[in-house]
Amino acid sequence: MELPFAESYKIKMVETIKRSTREEREKWIKEAKYNLFNLRSEQVFIDLLTDSGTGAMSDKQWGAIMLGDESYAGASSYYNLKNQIKELLGFEYFLPTHQGRAAENVLFSALVKEGDIIPGNSHFDTTKGHIEFRKAKAVDCTIDEAFDTEIDHPFKGNVDIEKLENTLKKYPVEKIPFIILTVTCNSSGGQPVSIENMKAVRKVADKYGIPVIYDSARFAENAYFIKIREKGYENKSIKEIVHKMFSYADGMTMSSKKDAIVNIGGFIALRSEELFKKATVFNIMFEGYITYGGMAGRDMNALAQGLDEGTEFDYLETRIKQVEYLGKRLTDFGIPVQKPYGGHAIFVDAKKFLPNLPKEQFIAQTLGVELYLEAGIRGVEIGTLLADRDPETHEERYPALELLRLAIPRRVYTNNHMDVIAVALKNVFDRRDKITKGFQILSEAPIMRHFTVELKRV
Ligand code: F0G
Repeated sequence: MELPFAESYKIKMVETIKRSTREEREKWIKEAKYNLFNLRSEQVFIDLLTDSGTGAMSDKQWGAIMLGDESYAGASSYYNLKNQIKELLGFEYFLPTHQGRAAENVLFSALVKEGDIIPGNSHFDTTKGHIEFRKAKAVDCTIDEAFDTEIDHPFKGNVDIEKLENTLKKYPVEKIPFIILTVTCNSSGGQPVSIENMKAVRKVADKYGIPVIYDSARFAENAYFIKIREKGYENKSIKEIVHKMFSYADGMTMSSKKDAIVNIGGFIALRSEELFKKATVFNIMFEGYITYGGMAGRDMNALAQGLDEGTEFDYLETRIKQVEYLGKRLTDFGIPVQKPYGGHAIFVDAKKFLPNLPKEQFIAQTLGVELYLEAGIRGVEIGTLLADRDPETHEERYPALELLRLAIPRRVYTNNHMDVIAVALKNVFDRRDKITKGFQILSEAPIMRHFTVELKRV
C-alpha cells in the first residue's frame, strides 16, 4: 500500500485559539461594522485574512534570532543575509527594508517619474499604489485566461507577450523605467509564471533596452509550480529553479513575510551597482542605514534561515498540498473556486456562489461575513470594496471577479482546520438561496477604503 502524505515537520510550540458561539459572532461583527479587519484576533477561530507575516518560524529560525547582531553598521547578520541572497538569488547588491511595500517605495523613488508607464502582470495593490502615487501608470499585461476562474491553465500568472510588446511600442522607451513581473501573481489568484514566459519577457525587454524587476513575495511557490508543471524542470531542485528564474531579472523587491516565512521584513536586490547607489540614498532616508535598513539584526538572521528553508522541496510540497487539499474539498462540495488552486490561497468565486445578490451589495464581502458567522473563519474580500471608486468620476468600479480569498498561513494550521473551513463554507453554500441581501456603505476613506470601511445590512 502506498504511504499517505504527511507534513515534513513536527510541532514544538503551540498557541491556543478559541471557538465562539454564533451569538457572540453576531455581536462582534456588528460592532466591527461588518468589516473583518475590525475584528480582534481573539474573536477569530481560524484566521485566513492573509498569509503575510502570519507563518510559524522554525526552531532554526528562532535559534538564529538569538544570534542576531544589533550593531548599527557592519552587523554580521547583514553579511549573513547578503551571502544568502547572493547564493540563492544571484544578486550582488541588496538593501534591507521593513517590508515589501517599503522596498517598492525605495526602489520606485529611484526609478519612477510622473508620466511613466510600468507594464506588468496584475500588479499587487501596494505596487500599483506606489506607481500611481508618483503619477505614473501601471499597465496590466496578464494573459486573458487569468480572469476566468474555470479555465485550467498551468501558468495563469503569465504575461501576454503581445500585450507587453504593444505597450512597449506605444510609449517612448524613456517613459518605461522597468517591467514588473509578479511571481506568483497574488491578484490573479496566487498563479505562477513559467520559465518560458520569463525568458520571453526578458527577450522583449532586451529588444527595447528596458530592465525587468520581479515582485518576488511568493517566488518559492512559483518555483514549486515550475517543477511540478513545466517540462524540463521536473528533475531540478527548487534552489536551481529559483536561480534560473532570477537569472532573467535585473532586480527584485521582496516581501519576506511570505515565502521567507518571517513575521516582518523585506529587501531590494539588484545587479547594477549604479542603481544600488541611487536606491541607497532613499533607503537611508526612509528605512535606515545600509546594513540594517528597516530590520533588526535578529530579524535579518531569521530571514536568511527562512530563505533557505522556504526553498526546500519538502516544505513547499507540504505547504502547497495543504492549500490544494482545501481546494479539493471545496470542489467536491460543488463550491466554485479559482482553478488551478493557487499557491498561497483558495479564491472562492463569490458571484457564482451567491448569484442572487446584486453587485451593488458587495457580494464577496457578504460571503466573507457569512463564513465568519458560520464558524469564526476570517477571509478577505477581493472585490468591489478593494477595487475602490474611480479616482476621477467617483463611480464604483465593479471588477470582473468578486472573490473571497482564503489565505493559508505557512506551517500554522492542520488539515483538521482545513476540514472545518470546507464544511463551514459548505453549510453557507447549502443555505445560499436564503442569502438575498448584502451590505451598503456607512462611511469610507477616499483611497484603500476596504481597510476601514463601515457597512450596514441592506
Ligand atoms: N507584492 C505582493 C505580490 C504582495 O502580495 C504583497 C503583500 C506585497 C508586494 C507588499 O508586501 O505587505 O510586505 O508590504 N501582500 C499581502 C497580502 C499584504 O495579504 O497578500 P508587504
